[in-house]
Amino acid sequence: MQSFHRIRYCMFEPVAERMRAAAEEGEGSPIFRAKEVLRPSYLPDRLPHREEHITRLTRVLADAVRMGSPVNIVLSGAMGTGKTSTVKHVTRDLETRAHVVYINSEIFDTPYRVVAYLARKFNKRVPMIGWPAELLYAELKSAIDAEVRHVIVIVDEFEMLVHNGDETFAYLLRLNRELKQAQVSFICLADDLSFSKFQNSKARSAASWKGLRFLPYTTDELKDILYDRVELAFVADALEESVIPLCAALANSGLGDAGYALELLRVSGEIAEQSGGKLVRADHVRYASEHIAQSREAERITALPVQQKLVLSAVLSLGRDRRSSRFSSGEVYNRYCELCTHMGLNVLTQRRFSDFIAELDALELLTAEVVSRGRYGRSKVISLRIPAEFLQPVLFGDAQLRALSFVEERTTVAV
Ligand SMILES: Nc1ncnc2c1ncn2[C@@H]1O[C@H](COP(=O)(O)OP(=O)(O)O)[C@@H](O)[C@H]1O
Ligand SMILES: [Mg+2]
Repeated sequence: MQSFHRIRYCMFEPVAERMRAAAEEGEGSPIFRAKEVLRPSYLPDRLPHREEHITRLTRVLADAVRMGSPVNIVLSGAMGTGKTSTVKHVTRDLETRAHVVYINSEIFDTPYRVVAYLARKFNKRVPMIGWPAELLYAELKSAIDAEVRHVIVIVDEFEMLVHNGDETFAYLLRLNRELKQAQVSFICLADDLSFSKFQNSKARSAASWKGLRFLPYTTDELKDILYDRVELAFVADALEESVIPLCAALANSGLGDAGYALELLRVSGEIAEQSGGKLVRADHVRYASEHIAQSREAERITALPVQQKLVLSAVLSLGRDRRSSRFSSGEVYNRYCELCTHMGLNVLTQRRFSDFIAELDALELLTAEVVSRGRYGRSKVISLRIPAEFLQPVLFGDAQLRALSFVEERTTVAV
């Protein structure tokens, strides 16, 4: 992830608003022919540089279906290396010969939900909570085994399942031994972190596995992927020559992620469109890359727990109050306590507060510097690492924290 202090902050808010409007506009664009072609939901007909993966996966699955011997496959690789697209591509062609079920991380909050979801996919009316595990498993088994068929279960982004539901997953993998009519093959998609967890999991030892590795795309490969979409996505001659090489180079320095390369190209087009021109230029791409980095950082802050947001709000609020940027940890703690009281929330202990400071420091959102105060010992000096004008709207986007805007106003006026 791009680190915060390396991002240049420029006119974040107005651009975000203008781009939202542009996205809604759609038709009649001097730049885009079909913008949806650049979105993650679009599955292209061709996947350049994944031909070999497609061939191998197709062959293994087709053999498994034809010979009636299920197989388990794990596809591993970093984000944006084409795992989901490849598996969708391959199984789309197999759908007439096998029953394909796709599950992703949204269903993974609990192992129960995964099993219940699968049972429902086979027309069993099971509740999404509450049944004893044995009953649920029995229901799933009878549902799958109701016909002679080959079932392919795709488990996308399976970190949660390996992490929280290893037992359940191991059970699912052993299901084949108990089935009389049906067979189940599993295809699991893992990023590098979940793949390393998987290596030590019960699921790993519960069955035999074939592996297929997806390496990050090179700059040239990313260029081919982008050129392949240009004709469908853009009006003829809408791109300056340097645009695609630049998108590919920037996406490659961010780990060869094709999803990012496509997002960068789309946002560049949106920015060019908003500037009223007919040509997407290299400076639009650079601007788009900053915009995306800021949006991602805003999402990261939005996802923090409310207590951590309050710690950030405390530093922000002190900055407004004192027209300074460095505060002792005691000052920040006192302001944090005031904000908690204002919001009717429990005040955490100073020790827990220190943990939060350390976590926010590790996330590069603030700096906690230990300074020596001579014979008075040592103390911590805290300062924000991100501009207040960026942080404030992001924090106040949280409905709970919006109440704090009144505190802001009061303290600012009081100074
Ligand atoms: N070889 C490829 N050719 C064309 N588009 C690709 C290719 N690989 C990935 N993409 C596109 O990049 C984005 C991310 O790919 P995805 O399959 O979701 O990656 P992963 O599942 O590995 O994170 C999608 O929009 C996809 O269409
Ligand atoms: Mg994926």
